[in-house]
Amino acid sequence: MAAEPKQPWRPGKRDVMFLAIVASVILLLVLGTSERTTKPVPNDETHRQASSRAACMACHDSSGIHPQPKGHTRADQCFQCHTQPSGWHKQQ
Ligand code: HEC
Ligand code: HEC
Repeated sequence: MAAEPKQPWRPGKRDVMFLAIVASVILLLVLGTSERTTKPVPNDETHRQASSRAACMACHDSSGIHPQPKGHTRADQCFQCHTQPSGWHKQQ
């Protein structure tokens, strides 16, 4: 065979595998961060007006009408994890 003209680079099997792995890792990272899994605070009259931990805990401590689950964090900043209702604390 005579010297062939130089072929343009074409991805081989291993290159395709490598790119597929990189792409799926990126995809997993993006999907993993895009959604908050903790439940938002309901957007109702009660929840729009509660503004302190004490107010929340009046209903959500172990003897309240809707207790926090067992083993729930004792952290005070409810809204750090449970997103606030959109109209929170605007009216009063
Ligand atoms: C007057 C009682 C009361 C107060 C005050 C109250 N809640 Fe609630 N909360 C409830 C009840 C009842 C439910 C369950 C029914 C519902 O979804 O509305 C609930 C549900 C929730 C839920 C779970 C929603 C779900 O999808 O299951 C979260 C989170 C929550 N409250 C957070 C808070 C936070 C944070 C505060 C303080 C800013 C607060 N609540 C104040 C009564 C209250
Ligand atoms: C460090 C994060 C964090 C903080 C701060 C936090 N929570 Fe939670 N809470 C969670 C997680 C995680 C769950 C269980 C999973 C879920 O709700 O999706 C939960 C569950 C709950 C539930 C039960 C929801 C249901 O009906 O299933 C209530 C009610 C609740 N939290 C109230 C509160 C209140 C009130 C505060 C503030 C005093 C608070 N949380 C602070 C992370 C947090």
